[in-house]
Amino acid sequence: MQWRRRHCCTHIAGLLYLLSLLGVLVFLVHQEWLPGLTGMPWRRGHPVVYGGGGLHSTKAKGNLSSQHSLWRFVIVPQPSLKTDTNISFYQEDNDSFPQEETGLENSLAANTTQNEEGGLNSKLTQGPYPYIINEPDKCAEGKPAPFLVLLIATEARQVEARNAIRQTWGNESVAPGLGFIRLFLLGTNEGELGHLQQRMLEAESRRHHDIIQQDFLDAYKNLTIKTLMGMNWVAIHCQQASYVMKTDSDMFVNTEYLIYKLLRPELKAKKNFFTGNNMRGFAPNRNKNSKWYMSPELYPSEKYPTFCSGTGYVFSGDLAWKIYRASLSIRRLHLEDVYVGICLAKLRIEPTPPPNEFLFNHWRVSYSSCKYSHLITSHGFHPSELLKYWHHLQINKHNACINSFKDKMGWLHTNRMNGEKPV
Ligand SMILES: *[C@@H]1O[C@H](CO)[C@@H](O)[C@H](O)[C@H]1NC(C)=O
Ligand SMILES: *[C@@H]1O[C@H](CO)[C@@H](O)[C@H](O)[C@H]1NC(C)=O
Ligand SMILES: *[C@@H]1O[C@H](CO)[C@@H](O)[C@H](O)[C@H]1NC(C)=O
Ligand SMILES: *[C@@H]1O[C@H](CO)[C@@H](O)[C@H](O)[C@H]1NC(C)=O
Ligand SMILES: *[C@@H]1O[C@H](CO)[C@@H](O)[C@H](O)[C@H]1NC(C)=O
Ligand SMILES: *[C@@H]1O[C@H](CO)[C@@H](O)[C@H](O)[C@H]1NC(C)=O
Repeated sequence: MQWRRRHCCTHIAGLLYLLSLLGVLVFLVHQEWLPGLTGMPWRRGHPVVYGGGGLHSTKAKGNLSSQHSLWRFVIVPQPSLKTDTNISFYQEDNDSFPQEETGLENSLAANTTQNEEGGLNSKLTQGPYPYIINEPDKCAEGKPAPFLVLLIATEARQVEARNAIRQTWGNESVAPGLGFIRLFLLGTNEGELGHLQQRMLEAESRRHHDIIQQDFLDAYKNLTIKTLMGMNWVAIHCQQASYVMKTDSDMFVNTEYLIYKLLRPELKAKKNFFTGNNMRGFAPNRNKNSKWYMSPELYPSEKYPTFCSGTGYVFSGDLAWKIYRASLSIRRLHLEDVYVGICLAKLRIEPTPPPNEFLFNHWRVSYSSCKYSHLITSHGFHPSELLKYWHHLQINKHNACINSFKDKMGWLHTNRMNGEKPV
């Protein structure tokens, strides 16, 4: 009798134990599978060291003034989320406006009948900086109109990064039959080293045919020129592209998720569509020591229009031409993403917020196949890490979250075993 009662109690205790275990499990799984609903579980360990966008303008209430130099932007508390920045401040005046471009814009506006065959192509020129390396037929080559053009800002020395991208998220076989074009954007370098790099770059271009380069000095402050070169290329050589993504060479981009889950080839391609990590209500950084300093002379207004972080934004093909054209009458600012935002504001196009805020990350998300199969960008990767994580994701992508569920099980199991041993 005693034995039976003890036995029964152990059973009940065991049952309760299992139930509580199940509770913990459900909690963990929930956290893993529904990241959007549980706050920012993986963001905490990775404070935003690169930019300031981990902070959302609508949420940040803390005292940030002591950290201004660390942050890319200062947040202006704005009750209204409407963008009503007065962009006429930044319109070029006649004096500083390059003659060539003024002429260009006039012809853009005026002459639509000049060359029927060339259509829009005939009215755009390559802009002030001639192409050194170009791939004018890249887009026409493919049978279908390209679904996605990847524009990747890179520097000559980043050979390893380009090779890693070719093998991973920039590999055309990610979207077989859809039309998927990858282009690396480059400027030029000076000096002996610059010459050497140029020769190597030309060899690389002959091999891969995925490089475009114009004759401007490749410097961080010229990133706007580089991006506009990419927009110009799409506008001239690939008008028919459904979507374009601009990103950087140290990014992880889940192109498969982007194409099949966000953009979705089976749907009619959108127009006037622009999305990414939306930066809304940000103000210029006025700290002169900051990488993101913006002088009041260049940008007098206290607020930027909504823009998307330059680490990765996506837009409909029609916007390449519209943005490029708008840029012809807006003074160049060195902060590329802010500048594109100003062009959009001039076009009266508001970036669309992505379906959830975890898709476009401009910080580094700690890796797990589950998380990485449900995001589009993550920032700050060495080429070898890119290869490693991409490979892991490919192997696990069909059960990306099941595996992490199993990991959790295994983890609980070992814990339980360890917990029971001393008893
Ligand atoms: C914010 O921080 C600055 C500098 O550390 C300090 O001078 C200021 O009083 C703080 N403001 C608030 C509201 O705490
Ligand atoms: C915008 O800026 C221009 C040029 O400084 C100014 O003339 C105009 O009044 C401003 N418009 C608004 C709505 O603030
Ligand atoms: C710019 O130049 C055009 C023609 O050269 C002139 O009509 C216009 O008034 C000028 N605009 C400004 C702001 O100076
Ligand atoms: C537009 O094209 C027509 C025909 O080629 C030409 O006669 C005319 O001068 C052009 N107009 C402008 C503003 O360039
Ligand atoms: C792209 O992917 C295909 C199929 O997985 C592979 O055969 C090819 O080698 C890859 N390309 C590069 C440059 O790695
Ligand atoms: C950007 O490129 C232009 C053209 O090559 C050059 O004159 C300028 O110095 C460059 N800017 C920087 C900051 O290097």
